[in-house]
Amino acid sequence: MCGVVGYTGKNQAVKFLLDGLQTLEYRGYDSAGVEVVSPSGNLHGVKCAGRVHTLAERCQAANLVGTCGIGHTRWATHGAPTDRNAHPHTDCSGRIAIVHNGIIENYLELKRYLMERGHEFKSDTDSEVIAHLIEEAWNGAARGNLVEAVRVATERLEGSWALACICADVPGQLVVTRKGSPLVVASTTDGAYAASDVMPLASVTSHVIQLNDYDIALLTPDGAVKVYDHDDEEVHHPDTIDIDWDASAATLGGYADFMAKEISEQPEAIERLLKDRLGQHGIELDELKMGNKDLAQIDRIFVIACGTSYHVGLIAKIIIQTWAKIPVFCEYASEFNYEDEVLVTPHTLCVIITQSGETADTLTAARRMKGMGCKVFAITNVLGSSAARESDGTMDIQAGPEVCVASTKAYTAQMVAAVLLALRLAQANGSMDQQEVERHYRDLQQIPDLIREVLKRSWQDQQAAKLFRNAHSALFLGRGVNSTTAYEGALKLKEISYLHAEAYPAGEMKHGPIALLEPGFPVVAIVPADHVHDKTLSNIEECIARGAQVIAVATDGDESVAKLCQHVLWVPPVPDELLVPIVAVVHLQILARYVARARGCDVDKPRNLAKSVTVE
Ligand code: G6P
Repeated sequence: MCGVVGYTGKNQAVKFLLDGLQTLEYRGYDSAGVEVVSPSGNLHGVKCAGRVHTLAERCQAANLVGTCGIGHTRWATHGAPTDRNAHPHTDCSGRIAIVHNGIIENYLELKRYLMERGHEFKSDTDSEVIAHLIEEAWNGAARGNLVEAVRVATERLEGSWALACICADVPGQLVVTRKGSPLVVASTTDGAYAASDVMPLASVTSHVIQLNDYDIALLTPDGAVKVYDHDDEEVHHPDTIDIDWDASAATLGGYADFMAKEISEQPEAIERLLKDRLGQHGIELDELKMGNKDLAQIDRIFVIACGTSYHVGLIAKIIIQTWAKIPVFCEYASEFNYEDEVLVTPHTLCVIITQSGETADTLTAARRMKGMGCKVFAITNVLGSSAARESDGTMDIQAGPEVCVASTKAYTAQMVAAVLLALRLAQANGSMDQQEVERHYRDLQQIPDLIREVLKRSWQDQQAAKLFRNAHSALFLGRGVNSTTAYEGALKLKEISYLHAEAYPAGEMKHGPIALLEPGFPVVAIVPADHVHDKTLSNIEECIARGAQVIAVATDGDESVAKLCQHVLWVPPVPDELLVPIVAVVHLQILARYVARARGCDVDKPRNLAKSVTVE
């Protein structure tokens, strides 16, 4: 959701700005723009609805020249995705420009105030008020001091922001600040850089500076970055992180799209995560920052997440309850935040699951739980993210950059992280002895090879995808842990193919969705060899009796399924039925991708979706 970039230095700014915006495309956006301070000392910008490549063509035609500039990809919240509403936004004089990620909640009140003072607005966005507030401050006491003007302006804002500002009167100065939305900066010999996340910076440095909420940073062309905190004190040693993602990790590397690449990277991602987890005393999860005594006392767990990560939470709930015998509540963050009663105990643990580490609802929930005295543990793919920084302990799932908006490798790696957490809890509270823990760990170690085997069978998904050619809708069914696999399969299909899909616990089908079934209706049924196999098989019979085309996801050698269903996505035997979702879902990821491609969809950048949902 909205990407911010900025550069000031020796080089032409537009190159980094456009490359940076392209790297941030994965966050989701509908328009883009850049603005630079030109050699003549004026601001010069280009912005448009549509993709970064269109913006790049227009920049070339406009011959945008300048060594200090800002850029933005916009995911519309206030105002339609039009050229006019695209960022950057300028003040009345056209000498101050800003880009903004976040939401200014009091913008209507501010806009009214500014209009009364004669300011003219050119867009319908909430963000534009910021440019005019900076102009007010600049024309007042802060004249000549852009940091001060930004400080004065942001003091009036309510909501969230990652903000970058340039001013033609102080060419070369780039001022950035944040509250609630992500922003990182970097200092190099070629200049200073700012971006919404580390990905655009991976090609220029391996060392980035993290800003805290309300920090304001002044970036200058010599590459210097000065950070001032909330009290206007200079921060001499700001937090830094080393980027261990090399820039090539975010390139296609011969794959047709990032989704294909990321699906295929799952075995290695899980192997990385599992490496060196079994020590002398069982599972090692030092990231929890809790010892055996504290872990053994945990008597309730809230798992809170959104989207695909929420599906991981549903699986975590079943596995933790089964193995560690601790009651688990799994909540959508966006719902949890508005529930009046949260029944915590003195030993409640909160686990947030968020691949981006920046999902606004999830962060709000984590803060709420912290406020109630709970320890918060984050499972995330971005170590320097807000989730990681604000939690008491963080598990970095190490899946590497995930560019495709629809999550695949982060999903399976998060599931493995949740399984490790369940084992660690079971070990600490004595629900499992060490031998059992080790046995489960060995089972888990087989998962990467089982996924490799599924990847080899992608032709099965390719065949099955043809059954969706004339479909308007699809139903996904599963039981137990695999009802979650059904939810995730349906979500993947919806996200990238725009085909309506609904998922149900198979036993619930009779209470509604069965009415949808008619000849040819596609039903994907997850029916592995587990303790509810025969029950699910009966549901498949019910679908077939009504003419539905059932695509089963079943375990190798299952003759009952082979006899019943023409289309089967075969999964090799998984040593523990609770681990089946990590393997079975890979078929559903591949299936969704084939369906989406057949429908001519851009699988990596589905319309309207954002990878990092930084507003509530
Ligand atoms: C967006 C993304 C999903 C993701 C969800 C939660 O909707 O498109 O892929 O599952 O946000 O994101 P998180 O970063 O918190 O896991």
